[in-house]
Amino acid sequence: MRLPGLIDPHVHVREPGQTHKEDWDTATQAALAGGVTTVLAMPNTKPPIFDAATLDLALAAANEKARCDYAQYLGAGPANAAEAARLAPRAAGLKMYLDSTFGELRLDDMTLWLEHFRRWSGPGPIVVHAESRSMAAALACAQMFDRPVHIAHVSLREEILLIKEAKARGVKVTCEATPHHLFLAADDIPAISHGHPGRGEVRPRLASRADVEALWQNLDVIDCFATDHAPHTLAEKDGENPPPGFPGLETMLPLLLTAIDAGRLTFDDLIQKLAINPRKIFHLPEQPETWVEVDENARWEIRAAELRSKCGWTPFEGWQVRGRVTRVVLRGREAFKDGRILVEPGYGRNVREE
Ligand code: NCD
Ligand code: ZN
Repeated sequence: MRLPGLIDPHVHVREPGQTHKEDWDTATQAALAGGVTTVLAMPNTKPPIFDAATLDLALAAANEKARCDYAQYLGAGPANAAEAARLAPRAAGLKMYLDSTFGELRLDDMTLWLEHFRRWSGPGPIVVHAESRSMAAALACAQMFDRPVHIAHVSLREEILLIKEAKARGVKVTCEATPHHLFLAADDIPAISHGHPGRGEVRPRLASRADVEALWQNLDVIDCFATDHAPHTLAEKDGENPPPGFPGLETMLPLLLTAIDAGRLTFDDLIQKLAINPRKIFHLPEQPETWVEVDENARWEIRAAELRSKCGWTPFEGWQVRGRVTRVVLRGREAFKDGRILVEPGYGRNVREE
């Protein structure tokens, strides 16, 4: 079965600054192995990406090391609204952190949100990490300024129902859901943790079974699937102050193919949410001669030891899945075949460059 090249709009590549967790080479190898041919890279690196100098730093590393196509987000900081708006044509989008998570980019003062909503004009949308009531506040900004806003990693019933209502009333809102919020709930944490509670830490937190069910019941409101691939090493997850985040690039497609096999999702849903909708929402160019071949009948077991991410673990360890990526062709070149990466670092292109 042939799928289009998939787009993951939410990936933490960790370069610059935290390349012991992941880098542009390993993240994009993991992407290709998972059928993802375009990654949009989050700005909560070290340093964070928030001006021309830091954007150049991230893009230089990507240019040298990326094996699939990419774009880099800018982060919304307390004083960069004008510069971010000027750099917008070179960025995947503007990421605003309105709730606590990993990194230093959180914006507490709501007047700072207004400056960004006033000035940002794309081509990518404003993407918000905003949970529950902060998400409602972000929707209010989108409505006031008539700007497209994309809600990252929806996890709660109240969030998806509020987004549904806002869409019906003409607010320019789109949203994504992660595999871990679709396939895991808070009561799975003991099984994920193996006695190390840090392994269950992720933002937004894993939610209740009722929340997970509400996401599945409202699949038509979910515009995109996104991994929120957030690798931290096993030593960090099992140590003091475990950082939140799960890896996800190599497990998203097999989990979704397994859900298709179980009748919870269709191939059409998958193609809409992993290719057609993200291309439209983020204004991404077509990738000519690009496709992903999957053996939808292959059965296998997810094992961290066989994954390419540097982080060395997965919350889906031991899961039996149905469906495997066998081959990826990216812009006319065979990029992945039968478990081997066949394109060199630097083959990936910045989709925001002509
Ligand atoms: C992310 C990370 O580690 O960068 N962690 C997470 O739990 N999702 C940050 C984020 O996306 O909020
Ligand atoms: Zn994230």
